[in-house]
Amino acid sequence: MSRFPAEPTLCERALDVLTTADGRAKTAKSRAHAAEWFAARADGTLPAVGHGAPPLRPARPDAPELLDPRAMPKRKPGSPQGRIALLHAVAHIELNAVDLHWDLIARFSHVPMPAGFYDDWVKAADDESKHFQLMCDCLEEEGSFYGALPAHAGMWRAAEDTAEDLLARLAVVPMVLEARGLDVTPGMIALFRKVGATRAVAALETIYGEEVAHVAYGSKWFHFLCGRDNTDPKPVFHALVRKHFHGLLKPPFNEEKRADAGLPPDFYWPLTEDVAD
Ligand SMILES: [Fe+2]
Ligand SMILES: [Fe+2]
Repeated sequence: MSRFPAEPTLCERALDVLTTADGRAKTAKSRAHAAEWFAARADGTLPAVGHGAPPLRPARPDAPELLDPRAMPKRKPGSPQGRIALLHAVAHIELNAVDLHWDLIARFSHVPMPAGFYDDWVKAADDESKHFQLMCDCLEEEGSFYGALPAHAGMWRAAEDTAEDLLARLAVVPMVLEARGLDVTPGMIALFRKVGATRAVAALETIYGEEVAHVAYGSKWFHFLCGRDNTDPKPVFHALVRKHFHGLLKPPFNEEKRADAGLPPDFYWPLTEDVAD
């Protein structure tokens, strides 16, 4: 039975996901909420978005232990242990992405946006939930599980750094961090293909195919908001990334997939270089 007395608002659905700690439970709820949202949308209704006050940090399981990236154990990427560590790192990224998309929906619910904005981020959250589950399945096939290894502690930092500004959130999360995923995933797929890890190859190909859309949603709504404010998107993007993202962008870039996602080279290349203050 639903814990909600009436049809929940989208923000109530987001909070339900964000306050669930266990990864499998969190992603199962996320997928169920997305299915209900899209069932209503297919019926021609727009369920209430409502308002949300998401926690600054989402609930997470006790394991994995979160470590400073410099303290993370180094493993050879080609070794079996290295491959498990890579799958574990991707699972961690996907679980963060689930929370990031639901957090975006709830945290910025005070900003009036068209229905398509919510459709896109619910779809992205649903995709990430599937990606997390696929990575857990791969880990379990290898005799491991999400939580067996330590994970990167800095993942939620981008959310905290951009908690006050929807444009900054779109610039840093989908248009920088998720775009980075497009750059690195083909190399990972090649690594697993080399050792005949069929399940991991299939899972990573699904992720790679679906992540292009997430970057595209970021670019679409970033441009929408700049258009509404009558500002030039490119300098606004550069300024927000320099302010809120720690470090420079690192080539090589997947220029083709970035272009598919609506990210032209003059958006990201200038961010590979420091500018004098
Ligand atoms: Fe993903
Ligand atoms: Fe994504």
